Formats: sequence, C-alpha cells, structure tokens
Amino acid sequence: VDPTLDLFEEIEKLKKEKNAIILAHYYQEADIQDIADYIGDSLGLSQQAASTDADMIVFAGVHFMAETAKMLSPDKKVILPDLKAGCSLADSCPPELFRKFKAKYPDHVVVSYINCTAELKTLTDICCTSTNAVHIIESIPKDKEIIFAPDINLGRYLVKKTGRDMVLWNGSCMVHEIFSGEKITKLIERHPEAKFIAHPECEAHILEIADFIGSTTGLLNYTKRSDAKEFIVATEAGIIHQMQKASPDKTFIPAPPNNTCACNECPHMRRNTLEKLYLSMKYEQPEIILPQWVIDEGRASIDRMLEISA
Ligand code: 13P
Ligand code: SF4
Repeated sequence: VDPTLDLFEEIEKLKKEKNAIILAHYYQEADIQDIADYIGDSLGLSQQAASTDADMIVFAGVHFMAETAKMLSPDKKVILPDLKAGCSLADSCPPELFRKFKAKYPDHVVVSYINCTAELKTLTDICCTSTNAVHIIESIPKDKEIIFAPDINLGRYLVKKTGRDMVLWNGSCMVHEIFSGEKITKLIERHPEAKFIAHPECEAHILEIADFIGSTTGLLNYTKRSDAKEFIVATEAGIIHQMQKASPDKTFIPAPPNNTCACNECPHMRRNTLEKLYLSMKYEQPEIILPQWVIDEGRASIDRMLEISA
C-alpha cells in the first residue's frame, strides 16, 4: 500500500462507493474501532448483520463472527480482512468430535456459545452470547437437560448462576484463561478503591474475586455507570479504548496475565489491521463463502437466539 495514502479517507470513500458497512468487535485495534460504523459485542454485531441494508458487510472481527453474519445475510457479500483471524475457543470444539459427544445425550437440548464454527451451529438447537446466555438457558423448559458448548468457563458460570446442571464441553479461550489470580490479588491490594471486572470466559478462580462479571458490552456499561474511578479489567485489552473514550477521567488497568504470556490481546483479533481492512474493501476479498447446507441447517440456532433476545 502506498505509504502516502490516508487510509481513513480511502476507507470512507470505499464505504460510500460500495455501500459497505464496517462492523467491528471491541477487541479490534483502536484505529479500526474508530473507522467502524458499528462497534459492539457478539450479540450487537449479529443484530446489525441481520438488519443492515448495506450491500457489503466488512467484518472486523474473527472468522466465526463473519460466518454468523453470512448465515444471517446470505445474499450479501461478507468480507473478513484476514481469513486467518480464527478463534482458539471455536477451534476447541471440532464438529466431528462434537457430533459423537452429542450422540451420547440424544434427548438433550444443545446450547452453543456463538464463539463456534458455522458447522457446529448446524449441530446446535440454540446459540447464545455472553450478554444473553442466562436468559437463553432460562428460556429452556426445566424438564429439558442441556449440553453447553464450547466454553467450559462460561458453562460453569452459567451452571452456578442458573442452577441448571448442564453437560459441558471442555473448550476455552486462550486470552481469558491466562489471567493470574495471584497477580490480580496483589494489584487489588495496591488499588483498594478499584473495581475488578471480568468476562465470564475467565476461569472460576478469577470470577470468584470479581466485583462485576459481564460481556464486553456489560463491562463497558458498568464502567460508565459506576462511581468508581479505577477499574482492573479482565478481558481482551481492546475494550479499554471504548471505556476510556466514554469515561476520560477514569483509569483502566488491564488485568495481568501469568508469566507465560506477555499481554492480554487476542492474537486472532489482532491479525486485522487498518491496511488489511482497506485492501479487503478495495478488492472485496477475502470473502466468506459457506456451503448452502451449513446456512440452511445452522441459521435456525441463531434466529432462535435473536428472537429470544429481541
Ligand atoms: P462478547 O463481546 O460477546 O462478550 O464476546 C467476547 C469474545 O470473546 C469475542 O470473541
Ligand atoms: Fe476467540 Fe478468545 Fe480471541 Fe474471542 S478473545 S476471538 S474467544 S480466542
């Protein structure tokens, strides 16, 4: 890319020229968040993807999110700036293994966290996100047993919160399982006035010491309404950009990960850059293409979720 190009200007031009909408997750780098038409959590992004009248959806997020957008708007062109932007959590639940697992519980309702592949959604009765998970579980009749996949940490949190004893798949997110309880406890001691807030994909020992647990949108809203001036944030650090913008006089400290990891940025989310975003819009690729049967069999699980969350 010509280094003299103003990428912000060029991307704005391409948006108009191609009637494109940029949807960005909170874990994207700050520049991408700033140029996006909509920034949100997984639920908000799905709702936008389902309702947009743009011709092209440029998904600044990871692969499963762009797949979800494609399932919801199959006639639109869906672009992901870097096709390799995957997800360790989605990868931790291969559909062929899950199919065998599910066969052991033929009468169970399958609830899958939206962070899973499009193919896994074809084996799912109803999807959920971290924003609506409790509500979705509570919508299932009490006499029905539930399998929850793929995130075991969110699953355990939901078992505790709803009192429903679910069969859990053993998957996890590489970003949310690296937080160090010991270092966080020391940080809390040094900042006694700070609120410690965490995403439910974190391990149980982290959630136990949290003042507030929520999805990315839930955490952001909490920091806006709280009287506290300092927050220790246990989720991907990208969300801090919006927290800081909304509350410039408050301080946000990324929760420390353990020693094996240098930072709490998702390497998959961070594959997208402003330059790749520009190129993907210009050349309209990489494009998300799904087999028709995956759209046909997977979409109902997302539609059910959106109906319940409306
Ligand atoms: P939410 O933004 O829906 O809370 O999801 C977090 C996440 O891990 C997305 O990859
Ligand atoms: Fe997947 Fe975790 Fe990255 Fe979200 S933060 S995309 S769940 S690896």
